Amino acid sequence: MAKTISVKDDQTGKAWKFPVLEGTAGPDVVDIRKFYAETDMFTYDPGFTSTGSCESKITFIDGDKGILMHRGYPIEDLAEKCNFEEVAYLLLFGELPTEKQYKQFERDITYHTMLHEQFHNFYSGFRRDGHPMAIMCGVVGALSAFYHDSLDINNPDHRRISTYRLIAKMPTIAAWAYKYSLGQPFIYPRNDLTYAENFLYMMFATPCEDYEVNPVLAKAMDRILILHADHEQNASTSTVRLAGSSGANPFACIAAGIASLWGPAHGGANEAVLTMLREIGDKKRIPEFVKRAKDKNDNFRLMGFGHRVYKNYDPRARIMSRTCAEVLNELKIKNNPLLDIAMELERIALEDDYFIEKKLYPNVDFYSGIIFQAMGIPVTMFTALFALARTTGWVAQWQEMIEDPQQKIGRPRQLYTGQTKRKFVPMKSRK
Ligand code: ACO
Repeated sequence: MAKTISVKDDQTGKAWKFPVLEGTAGPDVVDIRKFYAETDMFTYDPGFTSTGSCESKITFIDGDKGILMHRGYPIEDLAEKCNFEEVAYLLLFGELPTEKQYKQFERDITYHTMLHEQFHNFYSGFRRDGHPMAIMCGVVGALSAFYHDSLDINNPDHRRISTYRLIAKMPTIAAWAYKYSLGQPFIYPRNDLTYAENFLYMMFATPCEDYEVNPVLAKAMDRILILHADHEQNASTSTVRLAGSSGANPFACIAAGIASLWGPAHGGANEAVLTMLREIGDKKRIPEFVKRAKDKNDNFRLMGFGHRVYKNYDPRARIMSRTCAEVLNELKIKNNPLLDIAMELERIALEDDYFIEKKLYPNVDFYSGIIFQAMGIPVTMFTALFALARTTGWVAQWQEMIEDPQQKIGRPRQLYTGQTKRKFVPMKSRK
């Protein structure tokens, strides 16, 4: 028998039944699509803590157990056994690619990595000290002004080509934002390099000398991209879906996603972690900061700790901490004071009743900043890197939404607590 749930109005005694939907994994979902029509009431859920906004087959998270899977494959397997291009294919098409499919996909992405030459002018319109995320929002949004040939969201070929363009151009866009801040010439992508190699090459090469990408760092970058590729219906992904629900073009939607990711409670956390570790400055000061994080009257939070969904160790944080050790070893960085502070902070917080009780564990951003810093990536680029990795997830989720026959424009309602109708007062009589 199909599952239902009953809702009763205790005052009138009226009762309604709503269907309960079962997914392949995770909690059941109460189908309240007819709730308003039947009860004349809305549901209230600021921050969507209890609300499923869509049906999806892409990513599954069990936050209590610390499980993350893409299309059924655990993140640990993907991070260890695949490269980023394979994971991107998996997210987009639902299956890992065969060798032939992989070669074609790799070629499709590689041959869209260049930016229109006019983007040189576009970049030079920004101040040199503009934040890379501000530049990325602008440049990605502007892509829609360059690709009129692929903006029909109802045409599957247009959707596919826009998707490829977005994934392919994002490393170029991010690396050029960095080059622009330095006043160095833009470096063009190279077709013989992998996705991760190309990004490092465009970031660090100059026209003056040969630059060889360090394979250990390229491998680490590839893994970091995999770890950030998708994460279910988080704030930026939901932003992309909401923007796309109106029929907006994919470049505009991804620009909206980048804006949402920028905040310190989301993708901006990796930058915030490093700022926090620098502010702590010495292991001796950790207890003082832990005390502040627990103080209700202090806004300070331990950056890189806590997650809306994970109430256990974020599985990506484990892989990130291993990758961090590999990178520091390769770069022969023996003493990294920030890493020492991070490890000690993690140890102290994980033994503290406040963090245990609230199930606050390190999230993916806790170690990523230290790796980026060791690689020579400046702090302001951290979130830009996250955006470049997450673009694959965003476009996969956007495609899924467009193809969903149940898709409607996203339009939440509200609990109105403002003034009720009152008499208009002319300006002269206002006090
Ligand atoms: N340090 C101290 N206390 C915390 C922290 C933290 N990092 N995170 C949550 N808490 C406390 C809150 O004060 C709250 O306490 P209360 O119940 O006594 O009021 C409780 O834990 C629950 O916190 P909420 O903010 O209600 O949880 P929510 O799910 O809304 O927030 C979030 C999750 C935003 C990630 C939060 O944990 C946070 O701000 N963390 C720091 C920023 C960060 O690392 N963000 C990256 C997230 S991962 C990502 O986007 C890639």
